[in-house]
Amino acid sequence: MTLRQSILLCSVSVPLALCALFVSRGTAEQAAVTQAQANPWMDSALPPDQRADLLQAQMTEDEQLQLVKGYYGANTSSPITKAAPENLRPILPKTSGFVPGIPRLGIPSLIETDAGVGIANHRGFRPGDQATALPSGIATAATWNPHMAYAAGSIIGTEARDHAFNVVLDGALNLARDPRGGRTFEYAGEDPLLAGTIAGSQVRGIQSQHVISTVKHFAFNDQETGRFVFSAEIDEGAARQSDLLAFEIAIERGDPGAVMCAYNRYGGAYSCESGFLLNGVLKRDWNYKGWVLSDWGAVHSTIPSANAGLDQESASGFDKTEFFGAPLKQAISDGKVARERLHDMVHRILRTMFAKGIFDYPMTKTDSNLEADRAVAEQDAEQAIVLLKNTNAMLPIAKTVHNIAIIGSHADIGMLAGGGSSQVIPTGHDQADEFPVGGAVQRLPSGAQLRPTGVKIYDPPSPLAALQAEVPGARVTYDSGVDLQNAAALARQSDVVIVFVEQWMTEGRDVPNLSLPGNQDALIAAVVAANPRTIVVLETGGPVLMPWLDQVPAVLAAWYAGSGGATALARILFGDVNPSGKLPITFPQGVDQLPRPVLPSGRAPFDIDYREGANVGYRWFEWRNLKPLFPFGYGLSYSTFRIDSMQVQGGETIHVNVDVTNSGSRQGMETVQAYATPPDASDRAVPRLIGWGKVDLKPGETRRVTISADPRLFAEFDEARHVWHLPDGQYAVAVGNSSASLPLAATVQLSARDLPP
Ligand code: NOJ
Repeated sequence: MTLRQSILLCSVSVPLALCALFVSRGTAEQAAVTQAQANPWMDSALPPDQRADLLQAQMTEDEQLQLVKGYYGANTSSPITKAAPENLRPILPKTSGFVPGIPRLGIPSLIETDAGVGIANHRGFRPGDQATALPSGIATAATWNPHMAYAAGSIIGTEARDHAFNVVLDGALNLARDPRGGRTFEYAGEDPLLAGTIAGSQVRGIQSQHVISTVKHFAFNDQETGRFVFSAEIDEGAARQSDLLAFEIAIERGDPGAVMCAYNRYGGAYSCESGFLLNGVLKRDWNYKGWVLSDWGAVHSTIPSANAGLDQESASGFDKTEFFGAPLKQAISDGKVARERLHDMVHRILRTMFAKGIFDYPMTKTDSNLEADRAVAEQDAEQAIVLLKNTNAMLPIAKTVHNIAIIGSHADIGMLAGGGSSQVIPTGHDQADEFPVGGAVQRLPSGAQLRPTGVKIYDPPSPLAALQAEVPGARVTYDSGVDLQNAAALARQSDVVIVFVEQWMTEGRDVPNLSLPGNQDALIAAVVAANPRTIVVLETGGPVLMPWLDQVPAVLAAWYAGSGGATALARILFGDVNPSGKLPITFPQGVDQLPRPVLPSGRAPFDIDYREGANVGYRWFEWRNLKPLFPFGYGLSYSTFRIDSMQVQGGETIHVNVDVTNSGSRQGMETVQAYATPPDASDRAVPRLIGWGKVDLKPGETRRVTISADPRLFAEFDEARHVWHLPDGQYAVAVGNSSASLPLAATVQLSARDLPP
């Protein structure tokens, strides 16, 4: 309604209050129109590229240079970062990163937050600021549920808005080539389709709240040891079929505003100056329209980086010296970087800000609805927890139980969280419950605390409280598990024992091996010897070894389960929820089964030979004929399911239809998985996941699951011809409920075909 129409309406017959509303609405609209006229780029009806062009035409070169250089978001200098310039210090938002806006033109600042598992409180710079901790990335991947990943993402997006952060550094999906990788917990497992689908859905959920999200770390940052110096060595074809395919799928599905280039090198070149990765694969082949921002301290040059496709230097104080401010200006005036390149960098940033709603949906800080958000975190955890073993119907626990022993892993505080830049200070957290792991907490001049990456945090509520809430009449007793004899004594007096064991992972360092640290294996052995009715709950970043597995009747992988984790776990243990998580990563029997039994490392630059090529995880196990401890895709339920009536069709791609029936007596979810093996004379051809369907079934109910596969999943990337190639021939298709249990098999004929890269 225009101002004139509002006034006309008021002059006729509406009540006064309503009239005021019309006028004020009319006035606001009028103001918007006036603003759009004055600033034509504010006309939201125009396409983002056009709005960016209109705005960019008003910018000076210095303003453009300002937009492509970021600062660390907190006022500090430390051995790893230089302080931001004096004039910015008062406005730094105490978060991961900051790119000052241009008020003259109404360009908002970019305020960047880490958010792998929720809104991080970067190094505790915002004392008292708590947020919802979602289950970790690998946990959400274990749901095999893109809708859940979207829902988790929208919580992150909402809480980012509530904090007035408009760039979220989440969408982390480096493939788990080694389960010891320190960020395995943050990523989405070992398969390109699963990881790309889950991370892409999460990004889409984040961006549904009009904030920008980022996929990272592009590319091959698959381990933490030596991340600043190693070079991933893998041929292009295998790279396209594995790590790059995961990114490609995530980008197609999530349409992230930004892509973060990684610390490490690929084929000798730093990721942030790899023309192959940035200009070639990302921007040319995938036609990516957003911008490339660097990881914190990942830029090593001005001219090579700018010309290779880096669009923004993040947190420049982290780099050895600044590369994009004055040096970029100089490179442009010397003609070493084309002026059009700067224009392209800025265009990408602005068009993304328009496309994702940063201009049209301005932010104001507000309190989050933490209880509603926690409920979503709980649903995510309910579907993420994987039941690995359940013999003698040990689970679910009957609610008539009298005495329960809870042992280990600070189960009286919360559920373990991972460390590093993604660390959230969770709702209900008490600073007294922090466990420094490496290095003391430092106090900044401001009084804020600088948390080293080694502070262990447990997300409340505690499993102890959540379990007690399930059975208010029972005696639930906690023992720390430090003293094995005390733990065994408590176990002996109890009807049921739940032992919590943990493996803490953090960014920046890999775990040395896959054994549970300290005396935890011995703890389990002692407890189960004292009471065979023992349930083990794993709180780990990924796979661990289980030398006690034969003795223990029930085991669950709870990952890092987040703010809803304890409640979700309690509901599963007592049967209110039927477990449905499936492993997104292979659990090996030992590190000797991995492609690199000794984790490559070094201080000086070194190469990692990705000898497994595209055969990551379960494909490596298949290729080398190795039997894992638990296979990819595996997970039990309290019900049983039948999969039958398979039909497979060829044509342009592979189509699979199967029936799934709940043949048990409890409602529950099953994830049916389809794998295809291309015709290939080499022994490298192994089954690859081509799709899945997760269905919720009442006892006796049957549903048909339909999977139409993306042909890139079973194509080969032909480097010489720069195309995806589907060879002519018979493709083997197998269906079941894990990569190692595929009872239905068929073959299908496809004719040779090429697809664009
Ligand atoms: C380094 C990490 O690799 C990256 O994931 C994170 O977003 C930045 N630091 C900012 O904290």
